[in-house]
Amino acid sequence: MKKVLVATEKPFSQIAIDEIKIVLDSAGFQLELLEKYTDKSQLLSAVADVDAMIVRSDKVTSEVLDAAKNLKIVVRAGAGYDNLDLDACTQREVVAMNTPGQNSNAVAELVFGMMIYGMRKQFSGGVGSELRGKSIGIHAYGNVGYYVGKIAHGFDMKVYGYDPYVSADRMQAHGVEPLASVEELYRTCEFISLHIPANDFTKNSINKALLSMMPQGAVLVNTARKEVIDEDGMIELMDERPDFMYLSDISPDKAEEFKKRFPGRYFFTPKKMGAQTEEANVNAGVAAARQIVSYLTSGDETFRVNR
Ligand code: 3PG
Repeated sequence: MKKVLVATEKPFSQIAIDEIKIVLDSAGFQLELLEKYTDKSQLLSAVADVDAMIVRSDKVTSEVLDAAKNLKIVVRAGAGYDNLDLDACTQREVVAMNTPGQNSNAVAELVFGMMIYGMRKQFSGGVGSELRGKSIGIHAYGNVGYYVGKIAHGFDMKVYGYDPYVSADRMQAHGVEPLASVEELYRTCEFISLHIPANDFTKNSINKALLSMMPQGAVLVNTARKEVIDEDGMIELMDERPDFMYLSDISPDKAEEFKKRFPGRYFFTPKKMGAQTEEANVNAGVAAARQIVSYLTSGDETFRVNR
């Protein structure tokens, strides 16, 4: 019987686990669970005899892959797969996949939750401001960006987008005005919502020069990855620009410095929670389980991210 391990340091909701089990049961596969593990050694022993693995932001390194001698496929139940060592997977002939789109709406809703929280003085009772009529720039127009645009229209915001991999026609069809350069996006928009992946090209790319182009009252919303931010540059900018606010679903490495120096102008969730809804857990978890069944029974490689 094939064994599928769900290894999540940040667990899925119970209903998602129940639904993953139904998918695996009906294929005759066995579910194994490792949740809330605190030490890498627990992961290393849990992977020892499994055929497949579902993870979230859990790091799948060459060490983990070496310990997983039977592993044929690992699925990141989510969008960003910067936690998977793709080269190491390829070298060991392990297929790596993600589940694009499955948790996107959850992340997009959190963008607006954080924006309202920030604009309403963190619910302190002070006089804040509204989103209506303001400009929002969607930096990377993938699945999350699409939902951010849809919701922004509901708030009557002016919606702009920049994504070199997405056609202007697609954005226009959704009522999003495409801008030709990243600089133009930052120059135009009071709010920027980041949806770029963390990779060698994007790490530290959101830097002081770019951020300083944003108009007065600028707000950067980060539900992507902390690695894309040049934190030193951002701190310098926030020192110079008392109008600038940073809202992030991922606590920065220099969180303490932000807290000390910029009270009222930052907000960080205690743990990355963009995808923490029952719906997103079910969608991403079940999609991952189905992809595993499909690959192991018929070789279907849709959503493979390593070659
Ligand atoms: C993603 O890339 O899908 C999101 O960042 C969610 O990550 P999580 O599953 O670790 O919450």
